[in-house]
Amino acid sequence: DGEVYKYYADGEWKTSSSGKSVAIINPSTRKTQYKVQACTQEEVNSVMELSKSAQKSWAKTPLWKRAELLHKAAAILKDNKVPIAESLVKEIAKPAKDSVTEVVRSGDLISYCAEEGVRILGEGKFLLSDSFPGNERTKYCLTSKIPLGVVLAIPPFNYPVNLAVSKIAPALIAGNSLVLKPPTQGAVSCLHMVHCFHLAGFPKGLISCITGKGSEIGDFLTMHPAVNCISFTGGDTGISISKKAGMIPLQMELGGKDACVVLEDADLDLVASNIIKGGFSYSGQRCTAVKVVLVMESVADELVEKVKAKVAKLTVGPPEDNSDITAVVSESSANFIEGLVMDAKEKGATFCQEYKREGNLIWPLLLDNVRPDMRIAWEEPFGPVLPVLRINSVEEGINHCNASNFGLQGCVFTKDINKAILISDAMETGTVQINSAPARGPDHFPFQGLKDSGIGSQGVTNSINLMTKVKTTVINLP
Ligand code: G3H
Repeated sequence: DGEVYKYYADGEWKTSSSGKSVAIINPSTRKTQYKVQACTQEEVNSVMELSKSAQKSWAKTPLWKRAELLHKAAAILKDNKVPIAESLVKEIAKPAKDSVTEVVRSGDLISYCAEEGVRILGEGKFLLSDSFPGNERTKYCLTSKIPLGVVLAIPPFNYPVNLAVSKIAPALIAGNSLVLKPPTQGAVSCLHMVHCFHLAGFPKGLISCITGKGSEIGDFLTMHPAVNCISFTGGDTGISISKKAGMIPLQMELGGKDACVVLEDADLDLVASNIIKGGFSYSGQRCTAVKVVLVMESVADELVEKVKAKVAKLTVGPPEDNSDITAVVSESSANFIEGLVMDAKEKGATFCQEYKREGNLIWPLLLDNVRPDMRIAWEEPFGPVLPVLRINSVEEGINHCNASNFGLQGCVFTKDINKAILISDAMETGTVQINSAPARGPDHFPFQGLKDSGIGSQGVTNSINLMTKVKTTVINLP
C-alpha cells in the first residue's frame, strides 16, 4: 500500500514535495495497483531548466555516440521485457503476450531510429546560386538539420511504452532533450522504460519523467515557455493542447473512426479475419481499430455470419490468461461504451450477440443494421463493440467515411486493384490499407491523420524530421 513510485529528474529518482500521489487502478480488479508521485508546477519548472541545459551539450555530442546510447537502451529494454510487460498487464489490462510484443517492438523502434538518424542527420545539402534567375555562381549554400530544443512527449494509455519511445528516440537522436509525461494508466510501465534509458547512461537531465494529475500540471507543461515541440497521442485533449500551445511544431495523433469498406468481390474470409483482428484486438482500444464496417448489401449477410462465428471464438477474461477480450481501461470508458450500445439498441440496431458487461469487462459485440442516426455510426467506442452499416454503392461508403470528423486510416477489401486505388484516393484519411486492417506499423511507415485525427506525420523518418529544423550557412564569394 505504502510504496509510491518516484519520478525521474536530473538523472535521479525523486519524491515530489507535494507529499501527494496519484492512484493507478487495475482495470481488471478495479483496485489500486500502484501509486505515482503527484508532481508540482515548481518541479516542472526545475525539470525544464535542467532539460534546457542538458540539451545544449547533447546537441554537441557526436551523432554516432547518440546512436550508440540509443542502441544500448534498446537492448536493456528488450532484456527487461518481462517485468515491463507485467506492469502493462496490471495497469492497462493488455493481454500478457501483447504486452511483451509492445516492449520488443519498442526496442526495435529505438534501434531503427538510431540507424535512420545517423543516415538522415549525417547528410546535408549543397546548393548553388546560379540556378535562380539573376544570380551568378557566387553563393554556396550548406544545409544541415539542427535540434529544436526541449521536446515534450505525452503518450496515451493504450501503448504507454511504445508510443513513448516513438517520441523519445527520434527526439534524442536528433539532439533534443526530452520531458515525458506518462498517462496515469501506464505510468509505472513508462517509469520502468525510463529506467532502461537511465541504465544505458544518458547524460543527467537529458531525459525526465514527470508524473502527476493532468488538472495540476497538464496545461502547465504544454504551455511551458521552455517547451520547443509537443508530441502527443490521445483523444480530444490534443485539440485543446493544439489551441493553447505556442508557436512550436506539434505532432498530434488523435482519434479515428477507421472504416472497413467491403466490396462485392472481396474475399470474405480474409475480411472476416481482418475485422476480428482490426476491431477486437486489445478490446478495440486502438486509434487504428476498425471502428465501422461499410459492407455492400449483397454480401452483408454472408460477411456478418462469418464475423459472428469468429466473435463466438474470442476468449473473454483476465489479461494474465491472454484472453482476447479484457477489461477496458476504466469505469468511465465502460460507461461511455455502454451509452453507445444503448443508443443503438433504442434506435433498432440488430444485436448479433447479447450485450454483457461485468465491471469494466465488456463482451465482444457486433451490431448489424446500424444506421447513420445512431451515435455509434460516428463516435469511437474505444471498446469491443463494432457497428456494421450496409451500403448500396461504393459512393455511399466513401460519403460516410468522408462525413466523419476523423481521418486517420481506412481499409478497402476488393480483388479489383483499380477500384481499390480509386477508393483510396477518394477516402479523406491519412492512410488507406488495401486488403488488410488499418495499422500504424511497421513503425517506419508514415503515420498521420487528417481533420480531427491529427497534425504532422509520424513514423521514424518523419518524426526525426519533425523534431529538427533546417539550418543554412551561405558562403558568399567575391
Ligand atoms: O492507438 C494508436 C496507435 O498508434 C495504433 O497503433 O496500429 O500499432 O495498434 P497500432
